[in-house]
Parts: sequence; structure tokens; C-alpha cells
Amino acid sequence: MTQDAGGCSRKRKRRNRWKPETASTELSTTTAPGVTNSTVKQPPSASTGFKSSPKPSSFLEKMKAKLSGGHFRMLNEKLYTCSGDEAFKYFKEDPSLFDMYHTGYQEQMSRWPEQPVNIIMKWLKDHKSSLIVADFGCGDARLAKGVKNKVFSLDLVSNDPSVIACDMSNTPLDSLSIDVSVFCLSLMGTNFPSFLQEAHRVLKPSGWLLIAEVKSRFNPNNGGADPDRFSQAVCDLGFTSVSKDFSNKMFILIYFRKKAKNNSSKEIKWPELKPCMYKRR
Ligand SMILES: C[S@@+](CC[C@H](N)C(=O)[O-])C[C@H]1O[C@@H](n2cnc3c(N)ncnc32)[C@H](O)[C@@H]1O
Repeated sequence: MTQDAGGCSRKRKRRNRWKPETASTELSTTTAPGVTNSTVKQPPSASTGFKSSPKPSSFLEKMKAKLSGGHFRMLNEKLYTCSGDEAFKYFKEDPSLFDMYHTGYQEQMSRWPEQPVNIIMKWLKDHKSSLIVADFGCGDARLAKGVKNKVFSLDLVSNDPSVIACDMSNTPLDSLSIDVSVFCLSLMGTNFPSFLQEAHRVLKPSGWLLIAEVKSRFNPNNGGADPDRFSQAVCDLGFTSVSKDFSNKMFILIYFRKKAKNNSSKEIKWPELKPCMYKRR
């Protein structure tokens, strides 16, 4: 799975199956049930200096990686194409799917030169630590672990006592209780406007709304949403746009503040946010 800034996924690259061999190659074998794990020394191929078949353990590892990559892509697609409520019920039935999704997600993120969660962490460190934060779609709750602030970490499944399991369109947080609402790559459900509506409900007046999203979802030349239309819709919900940062190749950052009063009752025209799918490598 690879992801680029232009279009979420990029085409499969052919890789050289053959690897140069060192003088003595150590193969760590994958253990079958009842078989003791062992290390096998394999002689180098005298003629070519290259092995003619993949290492057995690396073959099995590759098969495992392909399977888990497939599961990740399926779960990722599910999250982008159903409502938050449906996703909540889906993961409640089998919470182990959540770990499967996050293993693939972390693999994916390890390829990004910079992770948006770290930028949001830095933003919080540059502001008062007394600000109360709600992290909508917190994943492994990295944000809460990296700052001094009180953080309410919200996600579909809670593997950590500090994480509140809920659909983020319907959180147990009190109205007007939060200073900073964060959505870091988490506007995934088809009903994403209700996630933002919930963030608005829990924020105090002048509270911050920090959004980081995959850049290609906001590229109108590639079927993505018009970022200005998106910002306008968020403003119509009751926010003021403060800043936009499109400088990163992988993600965009848009920051808003909640208006003290929102007198607008006009119907909000939300742009569609296209799912971010990952193709097979
Ligand atoms: C792409 S991950 C990002 C995780 C984290 N914010 C980060 O930056 O590392 C998106 C997260 O949003 C969560 N999510 C998606 N829809 C949700 C919903 N309706 N309610 C709560 N969490 C949701 C997913 O379970 C997933 O953990």
C-alpha cells in the first residue's frame, strides 16, 4: 500500500525479487505449530551471487503482509463509505477488526515524511496546557499521550481505558465544555457534517476546531472537494476561518474558531468528501 499526495494511492511498483546475497545468509524460519524455531545457514549461490528462490520465511512474511494489507484496505473502505453509526455497530461486533485496521494504518503512516498528529501536538504545546481538548477519531490516542492538556480521546473502539468508545456524531461530552476539537484524518464517515456539528456543540465560544485531512480529498482537479466550499460550509455551521496550510504534500490543515453566536439558519451546502482508498502494492 502506498499513498501519495495527488491521489491517495499510486500504482504498484515492480520490485526486484532477487536480492544480492552475502557470504553467509541467515534465514530465520517461520515456526509451524509444534516446530521449534530455528536459524538455518544457507550457502551462497556460487554462479550468480543471487538466490534463485525467495527465503521461505520471507515468503510467508510476504503472504501475511498481503493478507493484512487486504484486511486494512477493506476496513478503510468500510469506514469511508458508511455512516459513523454503522461503523460503530460494525466494530462493536468484532473489536479485533479495529486492531487490524490500525496495524495497516500505522504501516501506511510510517511512509509519510511528517505526520499531521505531530503538527497538532506542536500547536497544543505552543498554546496553554490548560486548554481542554477533544480528539475526534483519536486512533491510538497518541495526541493525549504527547501533551499535558486534558484530552478526551474518542474513537469507535476503546482498547485503552482513557479512550471513550462512541460514534463521534454522538459523544457523551457536555455541551460548551471543550476548548479545542481535533479531527486528524478522521472525517471518514459519509455523515462527516454531523461529526463537525457535534464538535460545534461541545466547544466553548471561541473554541478551536483543528482539521487535518488527506490532501487529495481536497483536490478539485482530481475529484476532490473544493477547499473553499468546505471552509464556507464549516463557517455556516458557526465557525470563523482562521488559517489554512496546504504546504504539506500529504495533508492539509484548516483551523477555525467557534463564533460566539451563530444567527445563521441557512441550509448548509456540504461538498462531498471523496474516500481515500489504498490500492494493492
Ligand atoms: C485515519 S485514523 C486517524 C487516527 C488519529 N487521529 C491519527 O491521526 O493518528 C481515523 C480514526 O477515526 C476513527 N473514526 C472514524 N469514524 C469514526 C466515528 N464515526 N466515530 C469515532 N471514531 C471514528 C477511526 O476508527 C480511526 O481510528
